[in-house]
Amino acid sequence: MGHPGGSYRPQAELGGVPAEVRRLEAQAELSWAHEWRVLAEWAPVSGGAVLDAGCGTGAITRRLRAALADPATRVVGLDADERLLAVARAGAGPTAPGIRYVSGDLGQPPLPAGEFDLVLARYVFQHLADPVGAARALAGLLRPGGRLTVIDVDAGLWGCADPDLSVFSADAYRALGSAQAADGGDRLVARRLPRILRAAGLCDVAVRPFAYTSDEVGGVAALAPQLSPERLLPLVERGALGLGAYARAMAAWERFVAVDGFTLLLGFAVTGRAEPAGTGGG
Ligand SMILES: C[S@@+](CC[C@H](N)C(=O)[O-])C[C@H]1O[C@@H](n2cnc3c(N)ncnc32)[C@H](O)[C@@H]1O
Repeated sequence: MGHPGGSYRPQAELGGVPAEVRRLEAQAELSWAHEWRVLAEWAPVSGGAVLDAGCGTGAITRRLRAALADPATRVVGLDADERLLAVARAGAGPTAPGIRYVSGDLGQPPLPAGEFDLVLARYVFQHLADPVGAARALAGLLRPGGRLTVIDVDAGLWGCADPDLSVFSADAYRALGSAQAADGGDRLVARRLPRILRAAGLCDVAVRPFAYTSDEVGGVAALAPQLSPERLLPLVERGALGLGAYARAMAAWERFVAVDGFTLLLGFAVTGRAEPAGTGGG
């Protein structure tokens, strides 16, 4: 096993850790309202505790804290990356009182068992070499009846674009998937999550897709940190993506922005419940 962050390497992103910190904040801002509409069903309305596992910079932990109805609900953020945790702790200002950030591997979480009503892992499972082991470890933190919810993407169901971009960018994004797989990750993880959660012993597994469009976030330019092929440049430097495929994807993206193209992006929340007390495990 490699380092606990799996295929997640913020230092290898274009612009390094500072650019990745900005990208995570932008990504949280883009879709959080849609995600919360889904998550609210499983969040405690009074008291209890919520864990943001793989919280990174706390971009979502802070939004979660603000959205929870009861200020007494405890919120914990757990991450293995000290650089991102330092950003999270620095961001724990007036808008984010009452969040405790903990350093550790979510595969061996340094937290008490049976304590959380909701454990969220957002855009983390696509990076894990042993997602079932991680889901089992996180399930162990749930109180009976509590929910583990994994939010992630699937490269085969990322969304759609008008005009269509896929013929120009398919090679480039396939290379991204292969590079992530070589590092132990899986960009097709969303389709596997229902079985991963069942294999971890959770019941009542359900899938809730959510979608957002470029128009509602101010146009495709606002999606550049997520969608521009510029993000793939480190792959070209590593020799994992040919310059031709990169240039085709980049030219298509620039044309797309120039004609004010439209995208619909899809994400998936997959949730499973810990058996209520007194029932047999499956
Ligand atoms: C793409 S970032 C997402 C961060 C955050 N969940 C968000 O949505 O803004 C993935 C995060 O998972 C963390 N991570 C990956 N593997 C981990 C592990 N085994 N234990 C703890 N954190 C992990 C990384 O350090 C990183 O902060």
